[in-house]
Amino acid sequence: MAKASVLGAGAWGTALAMLLSDNGHEVTLWSPFAEQTEELRRTRKSAALGEVELPESLCFTSDLKEAAEGRELLVFATASVYTRGVAKEVKPFVKPGQLIVCVAKGIEDKSLLFQTDEVKQEIPDALVTCLSGPSHAEEVARRLPTTCVAGAEDSEVAAKVQQLFMNRVFRVYTSTDVRGIELGGAVKNVIALAAGIADGLGYGDNTKAALITRGIAETARLGVKIGANWETFAGLTGIGDLIVTCASMHSRNRRAGILIGQGKSMEEAMREVGQVVEGVYSAKAALALAEREQVEMPIVEVVNRVLFSGLSAAEAVQMLMERDPVAEWNHI
Ligand SMILES: NC(=O)c1ccc[n+]([C@@H]2O[C@H](COP(=O)([O-])OP(=O)(O)OC[C@H]3O[C@@H](n4cnc5c(N)ncnc54)[C@H](O)[C@@H]3O)[C@@H](O)[C@H]2O)c1
Repeated sequence: MAKASVLGAGAWGTALAMLLSDNGHEVTLWSPFAEQTEELRRTRKSAALGEVELPESLCFTSDLKEAAEGRELLVFATASVYTRGVAKEVKPFVKPGQLIVCVAKGIEDKSLLFQTDEVKQEIPDALVTCLSGPSHAEEVARRLPTTCVAGAEDSEVAAKVQQLFMNRVFRVYTSTDVRGIELGGAVKNVIALAAGIADGLGYGDNTKAALITRGIAETARLGVKIGANWETFAGLTGIGDLIVTCASMHSRNRRAGILIGQGKSMEEAMREVGQVVEGVYSAKAALALAEREQVEMPIVEVVNRVLFSGLSAAEAVQMLMERDPVAEWNHI
C-alpha cells in the first residue's frame, strides 16, 4: 500500500482521498486553509460532499511540507487556476521521480498549457500523469460505479496509476494520449456552459444533443491538430465526460450556463454559483488555442462572445444554426 497525499480539499480532492483510503493507502488531504482542515478533522464530513462520512484513517493538514514529504503519490486536485502555484510551492518537498497525478481540468491562461505541462515546467524531474473521465465527486463519494482514464506517456506509469486508484466501484482504463485527455477535460467545461445556456433559454433535448456532438467534433478537430488521437474524443474523457457534464445539475459550468441563458450576466452567474466556474477561464484559453492552431471552433467562439462581448444567448444559438451548410465529417 502507498503513502499518498491529495492536494486540494474541494469536492473532487476529498472524494479521491476517500477512494484512495478505501483502497487501503495511507492518505493525507491537504487544504491551504487551516479552518477547512480543522473542520474536516472535527466533523469528518466535507461541506462539498454533504452527509457522506470521511474514512477514519484519512488525515488532514494545511502544511504542504507535511503533506508532500515521503509520499509515493501526490494528487493535484485544486481548481486548475491554482495548479501552477501549488506545484511551485510543493517542489522543495518532492523527491526526483515523484509520481504526480493531475485531476484538475483547464488550460492555463496566456501560456495555453495543460495541467500536466504546467506541473512539468515547475517540477521537471517528476513523473507527471493525469486522471480524468465522467466522474462527479458527489457520486464517487457515494461509491456509485464510475469509470476514469489514467493518462501517462509511458504505459507502465499509466498502469501504476490505474492500480493505485482502481477498485470494485471505480474502474480505471489507461491511455498514453495525455494531450487528448486533458483537452477533452478542459473544453467540455466550455461546451457545458453552452448546454446550460440552451437549457436556460428553454430549448430542448435536440439542442442539447447537437451541442454535445458538435462540441466533441470541434474539440477533436483541435485535438488532432495538436497531436492527440481522434479516438480519445469518442471515449470516457471526451464524449463521456461531456455527456455527464451537460446532463447533470452537479456541474457548476452547466448551472452557470443556465443562469446566463435566463438573462444573467457572466459575473452574476459566477456569483450565484459561488464556486470557480472553470469553463469561463477555459473558454478564452480554448479560443486562443484554436486561433493559434487555425482550427474552427464555432461553439467555443460564440460562448466567448456571450461571456465577454455582450452577445445575447439567443443570438449565439441562432448564429450557430445559420452557419454555412457543411458535411458532418469532412472537415475534422
Ligand atoms: N467536482 C467534481 O466532481 C470533479 C470531478 C472531476 C474533476 N474535477 C476537477 O477537479 C478540480 C477541483 O474541483 P473541485 O470540484 O474539487 O473544486 P472546488 O472548488 O470544490 O475545490 C477546489 C479546492 O482548491 C483549493 N483551493 C482553493 N483556493 C486555493 C488557492 N488559492 N490555492 C490553492 N488551493 C486552493 C481548496 O482546497 C479548494 O477546496 C477542478 O479542476 C475540476 O474541474 C472535479
